[in-house]
Amino acid sequence: MVTKGKGSGMPTTRSETLAKQLKSVIPWGSSTCSKAAKLTPDEPGVIVRGKGCRVWDADGREYIDYRNSLGPVTLGYCYPATDQAIRAQLDNGIIFGHPHPLEGDVAELLCEVIPCAERARFLKTGGEAIAACFRVARYHTGRDHIVQIGYNGWVNSLAGGGRTLPGQLAESTPAGIPVALSSLHHSMPWNAKDAIADLFAACGDQIAALAVASDYKTADLGKDFYPFLREITEQHGTVLIFDEIVTGFRLAVGGVQEYWGVTPDLAVFAKGVANGMPLSVYLGKAEIMEKLDKAIVSSTYGGETLSLASAKACINTYLNEGVIPHLWSRGKRLSDGLNRLFRNHSVPMIACGMDCAPYIDCLPEAPAALRERFARACYRNGVSFYNVAYINFSHQDADIDETLERVETGLREIASA
Ligand SMILES: Cc1ncc(COP(=O)(O)O)c(C=O)c1O
Repeated sequence: MVTKGKGSGMPTTRSETLAKQLKSVIPWGSSTCSKAAKLTPDEPGVIVRGKGCRVWDADGREYIDYRNSLGPVTLGYCYPATDQAIRAQLDNGIIFGHPHPLEGDVAELLCEVIPCAERARFLKTGGEAIAACFRVARYHTGRDHIVQIGYNGWVNSLAGGGRTLPGQLAESTPAGIPVALSSLHHSMPWNAKDAIADLFAACGDQIAALAVASDYKTADLGKDFYPFLREITEQHGTVLIFDEIVTGFRLAVGGVQEYWGVTPDLAVFAKGVANGMPLSVYLGKAEIMEKLDKAIVSSTYGGETLSLASAKACINTYLNEGVIPHLWSRGKRLSDGLNRLFRNHSVPMIACGMDCAPYIDCLPEAPAALRERFARACYRNGVSFYNVAYINFSHQDADIDETLERVETGLREIASA
């Protein structure tokens, strides 16, 4: 039994003590802003272990996990096929002074399964892979301006009013960004067709690239929005880049481009590619990618073999084990179940968006404190949600049903508080 330190300000759990230590030496208390625990002692301050779809904190409390490292763990923690591939490669070395054959194997596999991919290349994070696309697009077009829809990683959070984090907008020029650089980046809202058409009408001949990451709540609008973006970028000679960092290997193996049948010029994949190992991919038309001969992008760790071994095993699992239908059907079971609970308990919340990544939100009439109360109640009962519920291949029907039972207990606690 874990004693809660509520009210005393003194940490009473090991998890809280460790979270306090993190805060004392690391700004935000975490190297990833969205991972820092804000709701201790209900929220785990640290996670020390994961298996399948469950994680454990430093006090041994178990959570059915839908954060999944904020997306990358798509097959599950300690998934046998990827872990075995990593272990086998570890015995032969991690990284070398020349390319390893795995680099070619994984690039070839990606060119087979991603519609826009004729050439592929590797980096470590999603943000830097998008930055690589911007560089090559600028060189390819001889233009400087970039349009961004959605969050494309911290290195690219340059536009005034743009996203500095997935759920956070900069008011003006983001802190730490030179105004001259910021003025080349334009942030546009999801599905804002008229505003985007106006921008292209005003300065389309200066726009090198438009990068778009799907909205979660209204992802279905992509059906018309992606074709619109394809058409307008084609008209103006702008490179169209799909940020598939969340959508790739989730909506479909080939991401939104396969799902909506719209082929961009370049695309970036990261979170879904290697079941949690740090690997990002930028890929696309050979005509543009070959211009990397002059628009230089190079990083020591791009061809690191443990991540590539995991990616090869992971992509083959997607292709052979029916992962994508599993993510959709288990996500639907969760989404339907949550909406039933919200209705039955008169809680003004909703699970919406695509079933493969349900978005959990408060309705407009909800009291301001409901989001936090719900999150705390879920943590207390052993469910770890993010605003997007990242279903993985290890979530089985029984795990979803147990999640719903735990959430229902949490909703009863909220009602009786
Ligand atoms: C849609 C999207 N694009 C880009 C990024 C940045 O990826 P990374 O954190 O690997 O740099 C993220 C990360 O959350 C993301 O969700």
